Amino acid sequence: MSPALKVLLTGSGGQLGQALQATSPAGIELIACGRAELDLADAEACVAAVREHRPDWVLNAGAYTAVDKAESEPELAAAVNAGAPEALAQALAATGGRLLQVSTDFVFNGEQGHPYRPEQAVAPLGVYGSSKADGERLARAALPADRCCVLRTSWVYGPVGKNFCLTMLRLHALRAEAGEPLAVVADQVGCPTASHTLAAACWAAIQHRANGILHWSDAGAASWYDFALAIGELGAARGLLHQPAAVLPITTADFPTPARRPSYSLLDCSDSRKALGLAPVHWRRALDQVLARLEANPRADKD
Ligand SMILES: NC(=O)c1ccc[n+]([C@@H]2O[C@H](COP(=O)([O-])OP(=O)(O)OC[C@H]3O[C@@H](n4cnc5c(N)ncnc54)[C@H](OP(=O)(O)O)[C@@H]3O)[C@@H](O)[C@H]2O)c1
Repeated sequence: MSPALKVLLTGSGGQLGQALQATSPAGIELIACGRAELDLADAEACVAAVREHRPDWVLNAGAYTAVDKAESEPELAAAVNAGAPEALAQALAATGGRLLQVSTDFVFNGEQGHPYRPEQAVAPLGVYGSSKADGERLARAALPADRCCVLRTSWVYGPVGKNFCLTMLRLHALRAEAGEPLAVVADQVGCPTASHTLAAACWAAIQHRANGILHWSDAGAASWYDFALAIGELGAARGLLHQPAAVLPITTADFPTPARRPSYSLLDCSDSRKALGLAPVHWRRALDQVLARLEANPRADKD
């Protein structure tokens, strides 16, 4: 029997971190680090963790993900999203390990109007996207090409954590009771990605020793309005809502936020799906799987 593959997971308390722990395949020795075990803003601590554990892979699922807050905390966003992957990669370069760096569709500006391919140049619009783009670049520069994999994803949600799906379930219930509509932005298009399908892609990337840049989202395309509408419909069908609220499409201009967001950030995942040997799951189906988890365990989002 071959020895277990040692994987050091960062951000273990996040949406993806929790999904990764729940789906860790056989043959993996998982060292799960939350913020208490490893502060990603501390580059020296990142280096020390790699030196101490000498993992075969670091799966860097931790990140500063507060897109709007990042506009007023650029130093912290840079330390966590760029400094940590760089430090982890530098330490892995010395120990002989590999890095799976999770990144985002927000490295693109959304102006091209058709899906982004992995090799395309990045052009982030805000502090969060810039810090993640820097993290990709610095990690790739610090490691040999065959030992670094960047996996970009989009619009992550799941049965736990802070995410659009859980927020919309709450708002649907509140607005339906008050007889008021729920206004949701309809002119930003991307693709929702369930944390369990993303976790499967991460584990497949490790098992295939993937390198370079991969794109992973669920299949299809949606606006936030489409996503909110589907959460209401499918949530009601699963008994998670008495009835959905009416959803009102609005524009980005109607709902100003501190950070600019790409208006079209679909990721072309075709090559990555082949490389990872994973079939596409349409986002509505993946959403229904997440809602089924909540139906089976209504407290899942509160645990
Ligand atoms: N969420 C999305 O829509 C989305 C979209 C595209 C790409 N991504 C990428 O996907 C990956 C996973 O994101 P996610 O959705 O799982 O995000 P998440 O739920 O916000 O989880 C991020 C985790 O990182 C941890 N973290 C933040 N700052 C830290 C620090 N200084 N030291 C240690 N841990 C720290 C957080 O800890 P606390 O819980 O203690 O804050 C949290 O557990 C990230 O690389 C993200 O950039 C996410």
